[in-house]
Amino acid sequence: MPSLAPDAVYQLLRNLTSPVVAVTSERNGKRNGMILDSAVRASIVPAIPRLSIYVHKFNFSHDLIFDSGRFVLHLLHTDQLDLIHHLGFQSGRDHDKLAGVPHRLGQLGAPVLDDCHSHFECRVINVMDTGSSTCFLGDVVAVGFGAGAAAKGDVMTAGYFRAHIPSEWRASYEEQLQRAQSFAESRSRAIQPVTWRDLKR
Ligand SMILES: Cc1cc2nc3c(=O)[nH]c(=O)nc-3n(C[C@H](O)[C@H](O)[C@H](O)COP(=O)(O)O)c2cc1C
Repeated sequence: MPSLAPDAVYQLLRNLTSPVVAVTSERNGKRNGMILDSAVRASIVPAIPRLSIYVHKFNFSHDLIFDSGRFVLHLLHTDQLDLIHHLGFQSGRDHDKLAGVPHRLGQLGAPVLDDCHSHFECRVINVMDTGSSTCFLGDVVAVGFGAGAAAKGDVMTAGYFRAHIPSEWRASYEEQLQRAQSFAESRSRAIQPVTWRDLKR
């Protein structure tokens, strides 16, 4: 174990969180969206754009992405706190979170949100199991900007979100985080060997 207290290590690791993004998915006509801050650029080759995301297995989006092999990642504006609350504080397992969120289907058939900074349509090309989550590696196959994106200011970073989260949301945010942490604690050491079904050898 590292010599720092676990909480101090966790706070240090928070420096590695990504912008707060919306990730959408679709399976058999069911559309959904979630929020994550675990997105990473996964290629330095301009002609081969790639990114990766970590999605916990208890999230509905996990199964939609795993089964369909595609997702859309949206960078958000700093004025989209309400969308984060809508997509990131409740599951779409039992209801349609995208019902009131203007969107269309993109080239891969997954939802593209009208209002965002920009979006990346991704086809999953490999996965890594972490026990509690799956890291999806995606080839970016299409990119676009949201409506009026240029006028709407900066990209929503994790730091901005944490500094501006409305006080009335804070308790449910902390509670959700603790639930996710105890799920992850119980599952993180049970890593499975997974071979992505579409991997060409
Ligand atoms: C700021 C923020 C960051 C989040 N980061 C992640 C993440 O990196 N991975 C993840 O699986 N869930 C993350 N979540 C939690 C999911 O967005 C949340 O569990 C959501 O309700 C899942 O919806 P679904 O069940 O409809 O897929 C985050 C939520 C917020 C608000």
